[in-house]
Amino acid sequence: MRRALFSIVPLAALAACQPAEPPAQRSVIDTREAMVAGINSAAVAIWEIANDAQGESGELDSARMSEDDWLQLRDEAQALERWSRMMADADVIHAAGPDLASREVPAGVASRAEIQAMIDAEPALFREKARDLAERARLLADAARARDPAAAGHRAAEIDVPCQGCHTRYWYKQDSQQVEEPRPRA
Ligand code: HEC
Repeated sequence: MRRALFSIVPLAALAACQPAEPPAQRSVIDTREAMVAGINSAAVAIWEIANDAQGESGELDSARMSEDDWLQLRDEAQALERWSRMMADADVIHAAGPDLASREVPAGVASRAEIQAMIDAEPALFREKARDLAERARLLADAARARDPAAAGHRAAEIDVPCQGCHTRYWYKQDSQQVEEPRPRA
């Protein structure tokens, strides 16, 4: 009896204060959080593994890839794909802007408001670039799963392309003459 009452009361209360259909949950992605917590950390881990094992031709040297390396490469590529898809599919893309408390705005980098305006002006292209990154990450994960040193080496290097493509369009000041990609690998 008590149980039945419990389930009825909250429903009635909800109906009283929300006569309309409750709004569907909207997903929001914070661009800097996506970069710092997801995309950049996965990419840095991928490039570390690949750089350590990369031969002259861009292929990985199987002899320098341990079982753990392959598994980690696969996991990081999957994480990269997940975050990139989250960014592509979010209902709301929210720019956070440079972290002014902890460091200076890098030269050529736009402010939060500028980044938001650039995204809002062309959100479809932003999503397309995020999807491109997700797709490349998926192919890298496949190559790692297949223990394919040629594909893995080239795929790992190529995830850089959408990073740069999106940053020049959506992160840097558009009037900046020389923008240097701070490839975060050191
Ligand atoms: C679809 C667009 C897009 C793609 C793809 C993308 N980025 Fe970004 N990135 C941004 C935006 C926008 C910012 C600025 C975020 C902000 O300040 O809110 C940013 C900022 C960053 C930052 C600075 C974070 C900070 O501390 O403020 C790093 C590092 C970064 N990206 C790394 C990467 C790497 C590495 C890749 C590729 C593996 C990548 N990004 C792919 C859009 C993208």
